[in-house]
Amino acid sequence: MDATTWNERYSQAEPVWPKSPNKWVVNEMGGHVPGVALDLGCGEGRNSIWLANQGWRVTAVDFALNALDRARERARSESAESGVELHISWVQADLTRYEAAPGRYDLVLLTYVHLLDFERRELLRNCVRALAPGGTLLVVGHDTTNLTDGTGGPQDPAVLFSGQDIEGDLQDHLRSGTLVLERSGRVAREVETEDGPVVAWDALFRAKRRPDVAGGFSFGS
Ligand SMILES: C[S@@+](CC[C@H](N)C(=O)[O-])C[C@H]1O[C@@H](n2cnc3c(N)ncnc32)[C@H](O)[C@@H]1O
Repeated sequence: MDATTWNERYSQAEPVWPKSPNKWVVNEMGGHVPGVALDLGCGEGRNSIWLANQGWRVTAVDFALNALDRARERARSESAESGVELHISWVQADLTRYEAAPGRYDLVLLTYVHLLDFERRELLRNCVRALAPGGTLLVVGHDTTNLTDGTGGPQDPAVLFSGQDIEGDLQDHLRSGTLVLERSGRVAREVETEDGPVVAWDALFRAKRRPDVAGGFSFGS
């Protein structure tokens, strides 16, 4: 979907996404020492706001201005209510052109951002470049098998992926050891529907930039 379509989606009265953070983000990053995070395709900011509440300083990027406006307003009102200052910079940008600061982030997060495979590959390489030594790359999305076995998410196989697809996208880094694989596979998320709970299948990929590799990533084709 393009920026205009997403933006229109975010102009409806009700929030598009749940208020609570994604359960995999909480599972994987809960208890992690906070640092500097980049949340790409942040939507209405549920994960950025959760991370900022854990003490992370977050740069949150999306191309839909209506989403960023909602996210900013929610962060402002929660911060006013709790008295806790949330450090989040909201940035409007297209991820297919966005150049993240190299070597800067302790966490680069992508949740449910579904691009065409060549765009995803480029974005993931950009994500790895943005990792600080020891930094974590966490990618969550609707697994390809969700189309047949699960529920929700895009119904277009061209934009779905699996953990293995992400491994393939980043194979140079995984083979050279600059990126260390921590988790890759399919995970079940229970979703409430009118007919009762059903399972949605998510792809979950987590890897860490080797702590002792300073700068100097080489990016082949
Ligand atoms: C399914 S939503 C997920 C939002 C958020 N990550 C979450 O989990 O709540 C996907 C988001 O990615 C954004 N997005 C999709 N393609 C994008 C692109 N090329 N550049 C920037 N944002 C994009 C959309 O505007 C949307 O907010």
